[in-house]
Amino acid sequence: MQALAALQQTDKPILQTLGGKTLTKPPFWMMRQAGRYLPEYREIRQKAGSFLDVAYNPDLATEVTMQPIRRFGMDAAILFSDILVVPHALGQSLEFVEGEGPKLDPVRSVEAIKKLNMDKFDEITAPVYETVSRVRAQLDAEGFASTTLIGFAGAPWTVATYMIEGGSSRDFIYSKGWAYKNIQDFMLLIDKITEATIYYLSKQIEAGAEVIQIFDSWAGVLDEHLFRRIVLPSTKKIVDELHMSYPHVPIIGFPKGIGRACQEYIRDTGVNALSIDSQVSPRWAASAIQPSVPVQGNLDPVCLMVGGDALILEIENIVANLSLGPFIFNLGHGIHKDTPVENVEQMVRFLQDYF
Ligand code: CP3
Repeated sequence: MQALAALQQTDKPILQTLGGKTLTKPPFWMMRQAGRYLPEYREIRQKAGSFLDVAYNPDLATEVTMQPIRRFGMDAAILFSDILVVPHALGQSLEFVEGEGPKLDPVRSVEAIKKLNMDKFDEITAPVYETVSRVRAQLDAEGFASTTLIGFAGAPWTVATYMIEGGSSRDFIYSKGWAYKNIQDFMLLIDKITEATIYYLSKQIEAGAEVIQIFDSWAGVLDEHLFRRIVLPSTKKIVDELHMSYPHVPIIGFPKGIGRACQEYIRDTGVNALSIDSQVSPRWAASAIQPSVPVQGNLDPVCLMVGGDALILEIENIVANLSLGPFIFNLGHGIHKDTPVENVEQMVRFLQDYF
């Protein structure tokens, strides 16, 4: 896209890369870089009470967004929030139960879809936009002027799985089951999430988000027909609408687990960059993906947890294959909460010395 090529002239490495430039030293950040592996996060989280008490408090959310940047100097900060803010703001109950993950009151009928509404959306999401603008100011104030701020949302399919299952799932019986049984009704929910997500991301951009990442953590559990019917059009709709209003804001897609359908995903959704999971071969991505869009990824978070020689070997394989084109070093999925901080330090040091 023409509008994005101009980003090469900025002084932010992440934006330059997303504008299509190959840097001699690729920029990096980590999915879920703010979180429980950091003692300073655990301290704030403990004082605040629940995860949502941190996420909806602009002071605390700004602070935890900054924490990994201060420690490791990532090239991007990612807004501290959650993909489940959208269902919550649409009126669905949401709770994070310690050790169990998210719990929602399941949406399993057209009546339940119809009850979801935008009445309180602005009120519930207001602290998120406030956090975005504060983080932008804070990055400058603390001398991280070349750090890019990433806003995000879940993709409609992934968000729908939590809304329908009522939490995390292993087999997606209710969500996939509904899509197979009655795709028309199922799409009413997808369309509602899609519209809310466009609105939500637009507001993040207005508040200062410079890049958007769309997390589709469960894109890989759908068969070809449902993938084409659900994932591709709803993601394309979000990308098209945002591109129309904000042509200068790059959008990174993270369709986890879709394997070689990556190419179809890029072509049919129009995302500007692809975040690949750890199962995707870096060598394949360099030849099949990187000629069309910048690639982000894809260290296995478990390897980061292990550290040592295994970590170095995997990082070398990734950078040797992908750093010859536009590339952002990242993990293939979120960092695990039991990851030793020293291993992240080891990774950062290696990347510093390698280039
Ligand atoms: O640094 C960052 O990336 C912070 C922002 C962020 C969070 N969640 C904070 C969070 C982002 C980008 C997410 C995305 C997210 N949330 C996804 C997509 C990416 C992925 O990991 O697949 C998904 C599926 C969720 C839903 C979610 N949120 C679950 C299933 C859980 C519970 C599991 C867990 O890791 O505890 C959460 C909670 C959550 N979101 C935490 C954080 C830091 C842990 C909360 C805590 O402090 O207890």
